[in-house]
Amino acid sequence: MRALQHLFANNRLWAERIKAQDPEFFGKLTKQQRPDYLWIGCSDSRVPANQIIGLLPGEVFVHRNVANVVAHSDLNCLSAVQFAVDVLQVRHVIVCGHYECGGVIATLRGQRFGLVDNWLRYVQDVRVKHASMLDEISDEASRARRLCELNVIEQVGNLCQTSIASDAWERGQPLSVHGWIYGVGDGLLRDLKIQVDNSAALIPAYETALEGLGRDGLSDGGDHQAH
Ligand code: CO
Repeated sequence: MRALQHLFANNRLWAERIKAQDPEFFGKLTKQQRPDYLWIGCSDSRVPANQIIGLLPGEVFVHRNVANVVAHSDLNCLSAVQFAVDVLQVRHVIVCGHYECGGVIATLRGQRFGLVDNWLRYVQDVRVKHASMLDEISDEASRARRLCELNVIEQVGNLCQTSIASDAWERGQPLSVHGWIYGVGDGLLRDLKIQVDNSAALIPAYETALEGLGRDGLSDGGDHQAH
């Protein structure tokens, strides 16, 4: 008896459902992928990229890691970004964090889990950088949500400063980088209002996004809806 039989059964049903709508669907995908989007998100099981934005296989290129970090020394993330930008020529990169992120909460609490603590140092760097803003928030849950937002904004900054993004902009390739956050508790995306279309736009967009935190009703993690 094959292990995890139910997952194979699910898979057959899923493939049949798609083929019922479009018999050529999978055949077309074997020839090429032409996604317009690169999604960089958290590995969290509650934040599945395709489902959240309602896209089918072939429509979004995805890189996920714990706490949606874009680290300049991470060959895995950089390779995904380079392939997506240079080869697939995606038009948009979406860095999407989420509220209730275990990695972010562990960072705030100083919790220890093992090897992953070293990875979460990148989020700790964000916390240290914005300590004064975070210290003003007395409620722990709100502080965690703010750090989730700040982490996205910082990772957008990191992405825009990679040689890959700079080179794409330098040669005039259209590329927009966006920072979003997802509410696990309501299934909705919120726009952190940071969109960068060229190297010079990063600093003003970064500053505007930081100023917008709190003011636009973000950090509530539930009631506010993105536009
Ligand atoms: Co997470």
